[in-house]
Amino acid sequence: MAYYVASKTTDKVKNKRWSLTTKLADGGRDPFAHAGFVNIPCYRGSTIQFADLATLDGEKSVSVRYGLQTTPLLDALSEMLTTLEGGEEGLAKGCVLVSSGLEAVTLPMLALLDAGDHLLVTDGAYAPTHKFVERMLPRFGISHERYDPTDLPSLEKMVAANKRSKMIWAESPSSQTFEMTDLPALAEIAKRHGLISVADNSWGGGIAMRPLELGMDISVQSATKYISGHSDTLMGFCVANSKELVDKMEDARSLIGIYNASEDASMCLRGLRTLDLRYREHGRAGLTVCDFLAQVPEVRKILHPAHPSHPQHEIWQRDCHTTCGLFSVLIEKKSRAALASLVDGLELFGMGYSWGGYKSLIDVSLPQGFGRRCLADVPEDCWLIRFHIGLEDCQDLINDLMAGFERYRAAKN
Ligand SMILES: Cc1ncc(COP(=O)(O)O)c(C=O)c1O
Repeated sequence: MAYYVASKTTDKVKNKRWSLTTKLADGGRDPFAHAGFVNIPCYRGSTIQFADLATLDGEKSVSVRYGLQTTPLLDALSEMLTTLEGGEEGLAKGCVLVSSGLEAVTLPMLALLDAGDHLLVTDGAYAPTHKFVERMLPRFGISHERYDPTDLPSLEKMVAANKRSKMIWAESPSSQTFEMTDLPALAEIAKRHGLISVADNSWGGGIAMRPLELGMDISVQSATKYISGHSDTLMGFCVANSKELVDKMEDARSLIGIYNASEDASMCLRGLRTLDLRYREHGRAGLTVCDFLAQVPEVRKILHPAHPSHPQHEIWQRDCHTTCGLFSVLIEKKSRAALASLVDGLELFGMGYSWGGYKSLIDVSLPQGFGRRCLADVPEDCWLIRFHIGLEDCQDLINDLMAGFERYRAAKN
């Protein structure tokens, strides 16, 4: 939140008609307010010392009164993230920083829903989003229902059927199974019925997709992913298309006492400098790997919205500017030992959660394990492998996978 007076340099960048790439590379800095250092230094601090009694009792205003509120570095990052999600086009009216992507998911719900309210949440949401909605919100008297993100007429009926419907939670593409949601149509439904629409935009990253551009009210992201970009930082943020929504989320943030460490903010600001470049390269390499995977006999389906074989490819073409390198494939099911021979022997793909860093990763699951209630289009006799394509040489990655599938083929059923 901008308590701190925006730097002159940031203002200068803001007023230029530069592209987002240039603004991400050069904005949010103020060298001559910081002894000429190119980057804003990390501020560590709780106490802000007041010059006199008039300042202490609020007669004279200051930009920040306590370290929990903000620092110049956090303000610079907020401004940059607002820009990323459409601030300069007048779409994003401010940004609330939080300590993880999961907190960026939970904050709008805590800030904007009241006891008795009803939430519509996509069946394709990130699994911990479902856990929060199912285990925490009922304690505050907030009910929910899941909707199928590929069936918006049914969503509208659900909205209309409950007079206390207050928020629609979207995530496009869905976690793990990558269905695309028609966000402009969903935003229209929300508007028609007076609901708040929110999108988890961690996949879109502000580079491929900007939900506010598509009519959504709030966009949240895990900055842990492509923004930090190196699997060494956790952070999240929420932006909104109205000052009222931003202020409500900021109020909840300060009431709860959510804080961000300067070092983490510094890593995210550094990540933003190269975000555009890295994101697009992950995307390019991801599609090259998909083209290879499409030729592998054991691969039954590629779940990547930017791949022409995807059932909602047209939505991706209409709503996204580019793609990242996160997608899944379904492979013909063999024994667990066969699967282990494929994945354990990979030299370049690590196994683990999260994504967006330089390192290629896989995550393996049985599609039925997601507990999805609506999404039916996933065959039972498959393993689902989610790929995050990193920044290694693409041909090296393909060679690694080729050897992996040879092991899989040779393994017993
Ligand atoms: C779609 C999505 N949203 C939110 C999160 C949570 O992000 P974080 O790991 O920063 O808490 C994740 C993490 O994997 C995610 O995939």
